[in-house]
Formats: sequence, structure tokens, C-alpha cells
Amino acid sequence: MFLCMAPFLRQGDHLLASRSLFGSTHQVITQLFPRWGISYTYADLRNPAEWESLIQPTTKMIFLETPSNPGLDLIDIEFVGNLAKKHNLILAIDNCFATPYLQRPMDLGASLVAHSATKFMDGQGRVLGGAIVGQKDLVKEIRFMARHTGPAMSPFHGWILSKSLETLAVRMDRHCANALQIATRLEAHKEVAWVKYPYLASHPQYELAKKQMQQGGGLLTFELNGGYERATRFVSALKMISITANLGDTRSIVTHPATTTHSKLSVADRMAVGITDGLVRLSAGLEHIEDIWKDVAQAIEASK
Ligand SMILES: Cc1ncc(COP(=O)(O)O)c(C=O)c1O
Repeated sequence: MFLCMAPFLRQGDHLLASRSLFGSTHQVITQLFPRWGISYTYADLRNPAEWESLIQPTTKMIFLETPSNPGLDLIDIEFVGNLAKKHNLILAIDNCFATPYLQRPMDLGASLVAHSATKFMDGQGRVLGGAIVGQKDLVKEIRFMARHTGPAMSPFHGWILSKSLETLAVRMDRHCANALQIATRLEAHKEVAWVKYPYLASHPQYELAKKQMQQGGGLLTFELNGGYERATRFVSALKMISITANLGDTRSIVTHPATTTHSKLSVADRMAVGITDGLVRLSAGLEHIEDIWKDVAQAIEASK
């Protein structure tokens, strides 16, 4: 998906990207781009003041995820949008976690927006595909790349996705309501070291979340007292919630990013974006809130 957003980058160009990124996006930037002579700089999402100083004469594009995966850090899209405009840069945003129902980056200055249809857009674990929307001239080049390199959705998946979009709003409302409930209950639990969710007042960027997101999204992260060992026991003790690396499904899902989605990152890289060994990512599904909570609560007890 990310690669399709970058046909504009040439040898000698520079990419400015947020440090907190989906694991495979990080691999493309750090492993493939250098082979093609494209350099990059990672910036801290939480420190927008430094972004302008990291722009180089060869910078062509800014790429970021907000909320980030799995750190759930945010960046002010409007602020970066203005920066991109001032320096005549392409601003590309991965909007997988929020979906267009919760966050509309193009209204805030983005040039391109990516959505993975394997996540909330289909939201039912049935579709392989995605969408990149944006300025017409840029999309034209992306279409050329997609057309000739293969990442095209099958007609069947396209039809399923069109049906999925009819229920996006009602599904997102339920994902968000469940996620907020679980985050609130975890925050009050004595076995929980910390919880992060954009619409919890304790989130360091709560005000920004309220400003640019309609709701907090379907994902939350937390850590139980006891770090890595406890996280492993917790995940293994879940009965209803499945353990997979995906997110944004009808069913609730947990992931342990340090050993799965982000296991290829060095420990230093993981720590730089707050992926501790004990961090658990939960994607709240559409089940009844009490069913989800019952499973989470029993697994917290069983993992003591
Ligand atoms: C934030 C984010 N962007 C992109 C992707 C890639 O999605 P896909 O596997 O559908 O290309 C993922 C997958 O987990 C993701 O979490």
C-alpha cells in the first residue's frame, strides 16, 4: 500500500516520515528506499515543532500515520498540511485507523490518503485491497503504478467492499463506543499500568483528538502490571477475543506488537515509538460490550 503512494520519489529525493509507522511501511522506507537512492528522516509525531527543521532541499514528500500504529500518537494534520503547502511538498497520510468517517485529512491539507480495506473499511475480514485517494494529478501516477505492478482488487472484492461501505458509519460508531468503554474500565482497574486511547482525557493529545477526529477510533493499547510475562499470559488466557496481527474486524482482536507486527524493529526503534514489551493492542469488535469486558476481565485475573 505505502509503496503505491510513492511513485513520485526518485533517486536523490528525501522523504520525511513519522517514526511511528506500520511495520511493513517501516521496512520499505528503511530497507528498500536506500537501495533506490531515496533517503529518509524520521520525525517524532509528538514534537511537530521539529518537523520544519528536518525538511531538506531534496525533500519531496511527507508521510505519516495518525493515529499511529500501535502507539496511538497523533499529529496535527492541519499543522503539517500548512508546512507541506509552504514547502511545496506532497503530504500523504495513512488513515487506516481512523477511516474517512472519523477523520478527513484532505480537508486539513493532505494531498493523498491511504485506506487499507483489510481493516475497518471492509471491517469483516473478507477483503484484500485498499484505496488511495487524493489530488487528481497525483492519483493519475498512482493508477499507472498500480495498473502495471499488480496491486489491483478483484471485482468480487470490489463488490464486497462497496457493500461494506454502506455500513461503515454504524460499524464505526459501535467500534468506537466499545473501545471507549474498555479503555475507561481498564483505566480504573488496579492491575493495569497504563491505557492509551485518543478519546480518554488522559491521552497526552486528547485536545487534538477532539479537534481532528470525530470519535476516538476502535483501537486502544494498554499494559498490565508485570510487563512482557504478564502480557503473554493475558493474551493466552483470552477465550473469546482472537489473537491475530490484524485489526478492524467484527470480532475483537488482540495483538502483542513487540513479538508480531513490530518484531522486525530493533529494540531501540521499538522503544522510540513506545512499543514496550508488555504493550497489548486491542481492536474492539462489534460484540456486546459486556461480552468483550467479561473476556478481558477474566484474562486479567487468570494472568496474575
Ligand atoms: C496503519 C496501517 N497501515 C497499513 C497497513 C497495511 O494494510 P494492508 O495489509 O491491507 O496493506 C496496516 C496493517 O496492519 C496498518 O496497521
